[in-house]
Amino acid sequence: MHMNRNVAIVLAAGKGKRMNADRPKQYLLLDGKPILYYSLKTIEESFIDRIILVTSADEIEYCRKEIVEKYGLQKVTSIVAGGKERYHSVWNGICQVEDCDYLFIHDGARPFLTQDILDDAYRCVKEYDACVAAVPVKDTIKQVDGSGRVTFTPRRSTLYQMQTPQTFRFSLIKDAYEGLIRQEEDLKKKGIAITDDAMAVETITSHDVRISEGAYTNMKITTPEDIWIAESLIKSIKN
Ligand code: CTP
Ligand code: MG
Repeated sequence: MHMNRNVAIVLAAGKGKRMNADRPKQYLLLDGKPILYYSLKTIEESFIDRIILVTSADEIEYCRKEIVEKYGLQKVTSIVAGGKERYHSVWNGICQVEDCDYLFIHDGARPFLTQDILDDAYRCVKEYDACVAAVPVKDTIKQVDGSGRVTFTPRRSTLYQMQTPQTFRFSLIKDAYEGLIRQEEDLKKKGIAITDDAMAVETITSHDVRISEGAYTNMKITTPEDIWIAESLIKSIKN
């Protein structure tokens, strides 16, 4: 039987609270198409074999009709419901994968994914089994305590901003998430919030995570001003 070697999970089950719009931000239109469409299209045109789309239960039909069927995205073979936290949504996606070599996890709120970013993630994961697309931070980052007092300034040259895709050997990420779901209550008690996939690997396993080449344009659309930036980015990409 043919095995899908490379599978992508595209996450679109968030509510987009920080965007404060009339619908989850991944469905806002960018140049006439939903934000979510763009990364699905890039993955559709890549070396990846199959896409699992994770969305909220009441948006599954909308996604099927208005995105997957409308734009003929043939690699999207499952659309499943996500969960409360991002890591629940990832886990629901992982549960749809019988087996594969590498799993690419991407935020549906990052429309400016490119073939170069995917290619570099693939190169990196084949060598290291766990990698995250990232870019060096531009601003100085400081740690601040609850009262707003600066407590620490890490050396900027050691700091990177994490993006997606976050890419893993499937067995590694499956084990990490299995452990994460099992230890969920324990981690909550310790006040540990798992905010990306690499953190699941770092927290649950002892496996190293590497960075692959992201791009400053591979932004996550999060707050209203990101929409203005995305609108002008898409215009300059098209021209
Ligand atoms: N996501 C998800 N399931 C969740 C939470 C987030 O699939 N329970 C997805 C989002 O749809 C998004 C990506 O994870 O594509 C990154 O999350 P984020 O930018 O935080 O999106 P939201 O959670 O939707 O936004 P906010 O935190 O402002 O509510
Ligand atoms: Mg969120």
